[in-house]
Amino acid sequence: MKSLIYSFWSICLLAISNSASAATFEKDWHTYSNYQQVVSTHVHLDLTVDFKKRQLVGSITHDLKKISESTDRLILDTRDLEIHKAEFYDGTNWRKTTFKLDERDSVRGSKLTIRLPKNATKVRVNYNSLPQASGLQWLKPIQTAGKKHPFMFSQSQAIHARSWMPIQDTPAMRVSYTAKVKTDESLRPIMSAENNPEWQSNGIYKFSMPQPIPPYLIAIAAGNIHYKKMSKQTAIYAEPQYLESAAKEFEDTQEMIDKAEKLYGKYRWSDYDLLILPPSFPFGGMENPRLSFITPTVIAGDKSLVNLIAHELAHSWSGNLVTNATWRDLWLNEGFTSYVENRIMEEVFGEKRAVMEQALAAQGLDEELVELPKGDTILHVKIEGRDPDDAFSGVPYTKGQLFLMYLEQKFGRDRFDPFLRKYFDDHAFQSIDTRNFISYLDKNLLNKYPNVVSMQKIKAWIKEPMLPADAPKPTSDAFKMVDKAKSAWLKSDIKLSDINTGQWTVHEWLYFINNLPKNISMQQLKSLDAAYNLTQSSNNEIAHAWLLLNIKRDNSAIKKRLESYMIEIGRRKLIVPLYKALLDKKRNHRFVKSVYLKARPGYHPLAQGTVDGLFKKAKVEL
Ligand code: BES
Ligand code: ZN
Repeated sequence: MKSLIYSFWSICLLAISNSASAATFEKDWHTYSNYQQVVSTHVHLDLTVDFKKRQLVGSITHDLKKISESTDRLILDTRDLEIHKAEFYDGTNWRKTTFKLDERDSVRGSKLTIRLPKNATKVRVNYNSLPQASGLQWLKPIQTAGKKHPFMFSQSQAIHARSWMPIQDTPAMRVSYTAKVKTDESLRPIMSAENNPEWQSNGIYKFSMPQPIPPYLIAIAAGNIHYKKMSKQTAIYAEPQYLESAAKEFEDTQEMIDKAEKLYGKYRWSDYDLLILPPSFPFGGMENPRLSFITPTVIAGDKSLVNLIAHELAHSWSGNLVTNATWRDLWLNEGFTSYVENRIMEEVFGEKRAVMEQALAAQGLDEELVELPKGDTILHVKIEGRDPDDAFSGVPYTKGQLFLMYLEQKFGRDRFDPFLRKYFDDHAFQSIDTRNFISYLDKNLLNKYPNVVSMQKIKAWIKEPMLPADAPKPTSDAFKMVDKAKSAWLKSDIKLSDINTGQWTVHEWLYFINNLPKNISMQQLKSLDAAYNLTQSSNNEIAHAWLLLNIKRDNSAIKKRLESYMIEIGRRKLIVPLYKALLDKKRNHRFVKSVYLKARPGYHPLAQGTVDGLFKKAKVEL
């Protein structure tokens, strides 16, 4: 018990010392909040999930710590919120105070300024979200697995927490939180926090997140959500239809935690559960602490896509424990996580699979690099004035991962692994920006082992576009065999039936499809489909790669499958490239428009925004 109390206070102190040192970070352009003058240290949410109105209705209470004594206002971020009342607590009573809500900026939303009397220690705001909240999706029963109950979920990263609560929406600060959430008695809410897994018959649920987290990690969902324990620290939350298949698919999650702890130190969030969402979830996964949000499109039946779980779990160190201070520094979250993800995969599934996953990612990055504007190929990307969602790409992920692989290769695992572990410990429950990271790296790796890697090299990786010439180029022996078979078939030296595809994993299939010649003939596409039934593949990654190739080769035989794929799945990574390829050619415009008009109502606001942008760019009116 003593140690529990001790660790609770050490967490609080860290949070406070961190927020106080926030001034040393580059200013986060994406927040209006005055977190450098007064910072909230804890928030309490009291919310009703109103499915009829598609609103969250209630209040948020901020516990405040003044950094500058003269501050007379609290500035919070909001977007599309209705604000009813602001009050402050003077240590004894709650009293009304005045507030002003500014006009909406298209990127940052509306600045909410609340007058803060000298003796105020807390502020409470009564508000409701609107149905169009960018960080929430409200699903009709038909869009769920069970088809009987509605469902809602949040996606707050990067700057969408402000669309469902007035908050200092910057990853430069941290809050602990508690919540009381009420919803229909037949449904159940769940948050990224400690909770009682039992079903409450009164529809009222309580949550508590004692560790301080950046606001983009506050998460909520509600629906016909059931619970199944998998192991001592892991469980599945899902609609009953997914519960068993998800528990089987993700049964290795505990081993992933154990292996990650050996490499990078203790998992500091007690339990690690997975919430399986409906297929319109716009991401593969989201690392909400204690409760990653996961797309059902990775339940493939053969664990072939579980690197996603390794990825979201890895964020428990890179991202959730040590957090990018601004969205320019996203690579510190995602690059480190992609690297750690792959190390976990190597430990649990072996080197062969880990290397195949590296090679697929590196190839994907190469293709992206030639398409992206030069500036967006820089790790420390400039995103001032832009929506972080619009600058999203594989660069922070895979270029970041390759950078860490480069350091690993140069210094060796003996030196690099302890460095990374210490980095997580030294910055636990804190945020860090790129400049601070570079000086930490300089002190703790470059100078500790001199003459291995120069600062100039480091700066080239972090500040220059594209990839350095000596970047690691992961190559997989398994893929060499695939190349060999593929070339022989293309030269008609062998028949498809001569290729020993029985041994192939999903990775080999993906590599095979992705590397078929750009000018492959219709006849060859037909033979492939006849032999392997790729159009009907139930693996969503294989189907994606195959459909994309067929769009590029104008094979209209896949249209029906393409249409149902694009309507059923809302994961941006899987659908956006398909829309892009279709919109590239005028002759597809009528088809792609008719598909999108059917699919759009089922997509998340984020996915709608991205795809709307593609239509606009292609000058196709909707
Ligand atoms: N945190 C990200 C998702 C994200 C990033 C949301 C930036 C909003 C802004 C999550 O951890 C992620 O990276 N998901 C990937 C996983 C994949 C790389 C294994 C995804 O959704 O595809
Ligand atoms: Zn991630």
